Amino acid sequence: MESKQKTVLLGVTGCIAAYKACEVLRLLQKADVNVKVVMTPSGAEFVTPTTFRALSQNEVAVEAIADANTPIHHISLAQEPDVFLIAPATANTINKLAAGIADNLLTTTALATEAPIIIAPAMNVHMWRDPSTQAALEVLRSRGIEIIAPEVGYLACGDIGEGKLATVEDIAERTLVELNRCRDLEGKTMLITAGPTREYLDPVRFISSPSSGLTGYLIAGEAARRGADVYLVSGPCELPDPFDVNTIRITSAEEMFAACNQIFDEKHPNAAIFSAAVADFRPATIAEQKLKKGTDLPATAAQGEPSGETGATSQAAVYSLDLIANPDILYSISQRKGDCFVVGFAAESENIIENGMAKLHAKGADMIIANDVSNPEIGFATEDNRWQLLSESGAEDTGTQSKRALAGVLLDKVASRIN
Ligand code: PMT
Repeated sequence: MESKQKTVLLGVTGCIAAYKACEVLRLLQKADVNVKVVMTPSGAEFVTPTTFRALSQNEVAVEAIADANTPIHHISLAQEPDVFLIAPATANTINKLAAGIADNLLTTTALATEAPIIIAPAMNVHMWRDPSTQAALEVLRSRGIEIIAPEVGYLACGDIGEGKLATVEDIAERTLVELNRCRDLEGKTMLITAGPTREYLDPVRFISSPSSGLTGYLIAGEAARRGADVYLVSGPCELPDPFDVNTIRITSAEEMFAACNQIFDEKHPNAAIFSAAVADFRPATIAEQKLKKGTDLPATAAQGEPSGETGATSQAAVYSLDLIANPDILYSISQRKGDCFVVGFAAESENIIENGMAKLHAKGADMIIANDVSNPEIGFATEDNRWQLLSESGAEDTGTQSKRALAGVLLDKVASRIN
């Protein structure tokens, strides 16, 4: 049976990057997508509707008033697409969308459509950084609208900074991912951990790791878009809650342990993915007040003596901290996993596959994703990573890819095991 051709509605707003929408349109067409274009009146001043009409071989919508023979224009436009992509999106349009303002055909259609919306912003760096723009983006994200972040670069106004439209290849690829997304995790429940934990030794100091949380957040967001009921247990990080994901924020490994066990017992997840960088140890005691060198925390070795609060020494003083082991969340859930498909991570700095395989067996997981965290280009707090997917059937190298793409790779594997 032939599959129906997908339609993208491409929204073009008034911005110098409007000409790049022509290239996005071309890339989508090459992937056999039918592209229709809707423009704001100022968008039509940068690139004429005639250009988009010729390229798309479809009528281009600019005016909000329909003629007597067509159905109400914004409603018919809103019903047609599988995805509504707005690229480039100006600060003006972004702020209007967040406020629900519908004062032209593009913004009216955005309000009326039930299709997933993707926005690729492009603007001056100060407009991008303006609190109202950032707040509007947060509102849109919280409604499940995907934002393709602009790049840092030389802007048309002469400034250098964030605001340059993402590459046309990236915009087209992210749109195609949305178009082809399947709902293969519908009816499934997933438990995911993300980010670092913090193990406090006094009110202001803690043991932690550089995990940004990005890996777990991307997996959680993608699993939810594929239909899963997702519980994300997250350590402290800067990222906003992913749309449609039950996000539980914790601080310490013990809190993560308690939250994971509670979700495991109450929700009976079909899969559990442990991407968090959990601290293996915590200080044996947490001081109520900030520890003072030399008094609360005496030097334990004589490589030098601290002199009072300044800590000035002729040689370095050595301090000791008593640590106790944190509960191993992955291990303990793996021991009672039943039908739940359990995926753990292994952060390694050498012998990635060997050490990862040892963790697969030691923890009792179904799969371990081993990654090299000694490479500053991948691993902690980076956009990309390279995974070794390890299971009893061997090792599979994903090569270096964006963490977003890797989230899709992992969920394909998980879906094939739990469906
Ligand atoms: O968050 P990002 O910036 O995107 O970075 C991603 C990442 C580098 C954090 C991720 O790719 C990663 O490697 N996560 C695991 C980090 C880690 O703690 O690895 P580990 O080898 O120390 O632990 C092995 C596994 O046991 C992990 O699944 C970990 O979540 C789990 N664990 C560890 C200790 C503990 N007490 N409880 C656990 O559940």
